[in-house]
Amino acid sequence: MTQIIYLASGNAHKLHELQTALDSAGLSVTVLGPNKIGGMPEVEETGSTFEANSLLKAHGLRDVGPADGWYLADDSGIEIDALDGRPGVISARYAGEPCDDERNNDKVLQEMEGVPDGQRACRFRCVLALVGQGIEETFSGACEGVLLHERKGDGGFGYDPLFLPNESEHTFAEIGLDEKAKISHRARALTKLIDWIKNR
Ligand code: IMP
Repeated sequence: MTQIIYLASGNAHKLHELQTALDSAGLSVTVLGPNKIGGMPEVEETGSTFEANSLLKAHGLRDVGPADGWYLADDSGIEIDALDGRPGVISARYAGEPCDDERNNDKVLQEMEGVPDGQRACRFRCVLALVGQGIEETFSGACEGVLLHERKGDGGFGYDPLFLPNESEHTFAEIGLDEKAKISHRARALTKLIDWIKNR
């Protein structure tokens, strides 16, 4: 029987990425967007952790969907040690609403001014929450790196131009999607989710 996962995101790229990963793992799972069940309800991300916020979104969608489905949501962001873990769960709106990557990067650079190399450790973190049919699981992935003093690279999104992963000589804004898919926080969380489904 094919299991359906409703993804708590209208982002077509995330849906495609998830379906491709599940297909490659040989799993009989179909991913559908919230538009198939009347749209993503308004969910306030009031949690103080990625776990809490991903669960809020997954439960929010489950509450409006069929009982036999699974519901998956993600939450991610960057944690900078010298800023006591900020921006963390407010990464998307760090410089205030509306969300703007350039303003967020400027704010982080300003706050990190004068922080020497060696004290610029940070990481991207992603948590996937899967709920439904009595299940409530979270899968976490991280990618460790350092925050640069200035932007490098034109690709990617968010904090990518400032993030130099420990496993590469290039920032997330300089590497291709293939390389990012090997080391990213999101890819690592996804691998854990797939392993969990496989071993069920
Ligand atoms: P969300 O998971 O879509 O809510 O993303 C949260 C925010 O974290 C994004 O808006 C970005 O600012 C940041 N973020 C999460 N993952 C990445 C990444 O892979 N690259 C750059 N920024 C990211």
